[in-house]
Amino acid sequence: MATHRIAVIPGDGIGKEVVPEGIRVLEAAGRRFGIDFAWESFDWSCERYAETGAMMPEDGLAQIRSHDAIFFGAVGFPNVPDHVSLWGLLIPMRRGFQQYVNLRPVRLMPGIPSPLAGRAPGEIDFWIVRENTEGEYSSIGGRMFEGTDDEVVVQESIFTRRGVDRILRYAFELARSRPKKHLTSATKSNGIAITMPFWDERVRAVADEYPDVRTDQYHIDILTAHFVQHPDWFDVVVGSNLFGDILSDLGPGVTGTIGIAPSANLNPERAFPSLFEPVHGSAPDIAGRGIANPIGQIWSGAMMLEHLGHADAAAAVMAAIEGVLTTGPRTRDAGGTANTIEVGTAIAEAVASAR
Ligand code: NAD
Ligand code: IPM
Ligand code: MN
Repeated sequence: MATHRIAVIPGDGIGKEVVPEGIRVLEAAGRRFGIDFAWESFDWSCERYAETGAMMPEDGLAQIRSHDAIFFGAVGFPNVPDHVSLWGLLIPMRRGFQQYVNLRPVRLMPGIPSPLAGRAPGEIDFWIVRENTEGEYSSIGGRMFEGTDDEVVVQESIFTRRGVDRILRYAFELARSRPKKHLTSATKSNGIAITMPFWDERVRAVADEYPDVRTDQYHIDILTAHFVQHPDWFDVVVGSNLFGDILSDLGPGVTGTIGIAPSANLNPERAFPSLFEPVHGSAPDIAGRGIANPIGQIWSGAMMLEHLGHADAAAAVMAAIEGVLTTGPRTRDAGGTANTIEVGTAIAEAVASAR
């Protein structure tokens, strides 16, 4: 039996409520498909920050770098400024482990009412490929004349040729593997006049290697409108760190709820562990009430199974999610009245009886 060592970081807020449901479903998949998990839990969080002044220990990355994967909930709570909590835990993992691909599906699922009228499952089904280690997310910059009327604040965006090319290649390969073979690049080269024209230039250069992939691009402003009005146009959408972040909340928004959206933070070379987490955050507004939708976490678990080489188990988890969304209990954000544990348990039971 294969044993996978998984670092579990539930984090804050609803992260602590949905991660156990993800593990419940993965355990059920393990029993059904002969996969053994060794879970090792880490209490890295805003709570830990309040007690010790740090989100994780100084050697935190070293503690988990030889695990097979990281199963992550969410971090951030009102007791710690968001940039402190995120730059103290999630972002160092993404960067330190070279998880330069943030892969986020947008899919209209059965049973979930979409705010877009007249769309059926199957019509909206695409991937967002978000650059995850550079771009607009940078700590390079500074403040001058702080607190005065002359205050100046500068923050640099960093786009490296290596960083841009590798995310584009990942996205083109993904597009090539899909029936539509269509790649859309998010840009803003009309207004952001140095980095974004460079991005476009690299898209053109890499596109030359993929003549079988149809390539187009939209400025990010109109692209957000097309996501709402024409979500059926898209197949693979590639964007910088910030544009990919925004599009990957908009996608689940138009397909019904952020509560089901998963993500894989991938180090494709497998030199370091990859990290699987829902797209959503710690949702302080509903934390502690047991009503969070666990499907974003559970679907992230399916992506982790796929990454670990268990495509059959991943498919069974996806079928169980679809079945429960169609006829089983649903949380409020998905139009039902069930609680987190009821949904997680129903999906685990469906996986246990998968054929
Ligand atoms: P959020 O995703 O936490 O919540 C946005 C809204 O969606 C809220 O109304 C919330 O109740 C709802 N929601 C989110 N997940 C849900 C679920 N599973 N089921 C039902 N409803 C759900 O975003 P936010 O409010 O902008 O951020 C809250 C905190 O989380 C902040 O500290 C932020 O920095 C952090 N955050 C962390 C991550 C991460 O760890 N990857 C991602 C996003 C935000
Ligand atoms: C996400 C989150 C993070 C991001 C935040 C919390 C730093 O929004 O994973 O999408 O912007 O990457
Ligand atoms: Mn986000």
